[in-house]
Amino acid sequence: MSLHIVILAAGKGTRMYSKLPKVLHRIGGKTMLEHVIDTAAALQPQSVSVVVGHGKESVLQELGGKAVNWVEQNQQLGTGHALKCALPALPESGRTLVLYGDVPLIDTGTLHAILEAAGNDVGVLTDILDNPTGYGRIIRNENGHVVAVVEEKDADAAQKAVREVNTGILVLPNARLAAWLESLSSDNVQGEYYLTDLIALANRDRIPVHAVRVAASYLAAGVNNKSQLADLERVFQSNQAQQLLQAGVTLRDPSRFDLRGCLKHGQDVVIDVNCVFEGDVSLGDDVHIGANCVIKNALIHNGAVIAPFSHLENCEVGAGAQVGPFARLRPKAVLAEGVHIGNFVEVKDSTIGKGSKANHLTYIGNAVVGEKTNIGAGTITCNYDGVNKYQTVIGNEVRIGSSTMLVAPVTIGDRATTGAGSVITKNCEAGKLVVARARQTVIEGWVRPEKP
Ligand code: UD1
Ligand code: MG
Repeated sequence: MSLHIVILAAGKGTRMYSKLPKVLHRIGGKTMLEHVIDTAAALQPQSVSVVVGHGKESVLQELGGKAVNWVEQNQQLGTGHALKCALPALPESGRTLVLYGDVPLIDTGTLHAILEAAGNDVGVLTDILDNPTGYGRIIRNENGHVVAVVEEKDADAAQKAVREVNTGILVLPNARLAAWLESLSSDNVQGEYYLTDLIALANRDRIPVHAVRVAASYLAAGVNNKSQLADLERVFQSNQAQQLLQAGVTLRDPSRFDLRGCLKHGQDVVIDVNCVFEGDVSLGDDVHIGANCVIKNALIHNGAVIAPFSHLENCEVGAGAQVGPFARLRPKAVLAEGVHIGNFVEVKDSTIGKGSKANHLTYIGNAVVGEKTNIGAGTITCNYDGVNKYQTVIGNEVRIGSSTMLVAPVTIGDRATTGAGSVITKNCEAGKLVVARARQTVIEGWVRPEKP
């Protein structure tokens, strides 16, 4: 039986108080809608349709590349109307699973369960909540069969007392869809076409409704405001942290760990508190990440140590290298094995050879640094004239004196030394000491002013 999935994502999300459409808010760095689209795709359905309306331009800009049918609902007349907009994309056979762009943590296990329970009939995913306020209530008859869903705003006192709620996720037989959606009315308190009225229509047509209870509330929890967004973010992060712990990563405190992307790791990796990982990060064996680091799209090889408060982006750190504390590796910083990059050192678009060091207060940009070279405190590659970037080439076993200004383009030969405080504007020969600074002089006879 063919499976089609429709994701409803046209709502405004008024309670987010944001310019961004609700479904573009992120959990674990990924938009809520993308989470749902990816989960839908994992079921390998015949089609996925996404109903968009509010902020559809931004949604398409962000997710237009996804392999789904984009369906427009120009006026948000209710969830039933939203599904009706997707009807042209659905064949008359098979079945349709309805998901929500603001229920981001639904998983394939839950969806397999409801699809299996529903068979050719109707399936509804339910939950039992201590506080069911705001949800549609599941109404069962004396035999326990689900006969209707009543929205909170339309419910009487007895119905409001029901704690079993509609999560919104439904499985519906396509053969019935057109007729059922056609007969929906907006004669209710909200004046909307309710998708939930399909449950009563199924009963009228004697199609059984199978209710499946979700295994954990977060799986079907919707996001209507920033508080619920933050709650689901924590659940998501704690699930990721648990997976990493299970796989042998040491997290000093799993509740102070954030991964917004994908983290690959070797053995005996240790991550201290308050680190944020974004994009694709790969940590080799025995890598230690100190507290309060932000690491985005980075390849960090075996035994490297990233000391606290370091910021790394689009860079590579060689085996056994030491970075930080308070270091910044910007895009295309490539550190070879055993390199040391210390506090308040910034490296951008530069390769630094094996065993070289820049331990304090330095800027290295558009540079190629050889092996076993030492770059003294306060050194700057002056790489930019306000328009163009120029390269600095530093050889092997070079000693750059503290506070050297390397005015690029410039080349420093192997084993050369620059005197502290030099402003180097010409290439330096290999093996030579170069001093480019005013000589120290004593002003004889100078009288120091003194207060009377
Ligand atoms: C809906 C259900 C309610 C359920 C709850 C679970 C209905 C009538 N009610 O209520 O039984 O307990 O979800 O969270 O279905 N949307 C559109 N177009 C529209 C209206 C909504 O695409 O015209 C989308 C929204 O973007 C959202 C989803 O449908 O993703 C749910 O809409 P929402 O307004 O949040 O419905 P609820 O009132 O929460
Ligand atoms: Mg809702």
